Amino acid sequence: MRHLMSPLDFTTEELEKLFCLANDIENNKAKYAHACDGKIMATCFYEPSTRTRLSFESAMIRLGGQVIGFSDAGSSSAAKGESVSDTIRVISGYADICAMRHPKEGAPMVAMEKSLIPVINAGDGGHQHPTQTLTDLLTIRSLKGTLSGFTIGLCGDLKFGRTVHSLINALVRYDNINFIFISPDELKIPDYIIEMLKNKNIPYEEVNSLDEVMPQLDLLYMTRVQKERFFNEEDYVRLKNYYILDTEKMQLAKPDMLVLHPLPRVNEISVEVDNDPRAAYFKQAEYGVYVRMALILTLLELA
Ligand code: NCD
Repeated sequence: MRHLMSPLDFTTEELEKLFCLANDIENNKAKYAHACDGKIMATCFYEPSTRTRLSFESAMIRLGGQVIGFSDAGSSSAAKGESVSDTIRVISGYADICAMRHPKEGAPMVAMEKSLIPVINAGDGGHQHPTQTLTDLLTIRSLKGTLSGFTIGLCGDLKFGRTVHSLINALVRYDNINFIFISPDELKIPDYIIEMLKNKNIPYEEVNSLDEVMPQLDLLYMTRVQKERFFNEEDYVRLKNYYILDTEKMQLAKPDMLVLHPLPRVNEISVEVDNDPRAAYFKQAEYGVYVRMALILTLLELA
């Protein structure tokens, strides 16, 4: 039985297969409409989410399956003190596959060890968010035609942003990728990631100014300042509007640069940018459904 805890759980060849399947689903929706008839997905979300939970649910329903679950810890037995291990043992009897989001790093891993059904990590604290990474990779591959040979700027909260950590981990397996990390000093990328890049001899740069590097970028991955992971409100308020991507800044960018964002957006991308053909974040959210459909089929061995 297979689970998904980290994007590295799949080899790059397996990811290629998954992305081809996702593209096929996008182009032939009717072909997959009953692929999961009779199957049930449990979405166990101990932390708020709109996109991730609903995209899992939409993915399962579009495959003909059904969904059960909870969307906050308060409405589950966790509020009575039940452990994640016990919850998953019980859910193993109710569903065929489970997507779990938890504020504690490693919680989905604990669940996986006791689970009798495939478990998908739908985000664990500031750690990993593998299905967002699959979404990001599918978006880049579909819109740029390749997953190698580009300069990617990651901008905003690089300290707490789990989507950033997951994406970098996944991208280092492709050729000729140059990373530019754009953040205030307080929100710099964690040391363990810098160490990993150094060990692999992967080029990276850490800068403060978005304007300065804008002309070099093939991709700009914007992120939200992760309010819920700050220890004090004052720091959040000071940093939340540090970067705001607007049409003026977009004029500095290459004509084919793509703007990605895992969403939700707060102020970091001004709404006027939405009309720019380079703004790919809503399309990216749509790809999130196709890649989750492909993932469900793969983990249930129905692909
Ligand atoms: C991200 C997350 O939950 O980490 N959202 C998402 O899954 N699309 C990014 C964020 O919350 O800023």
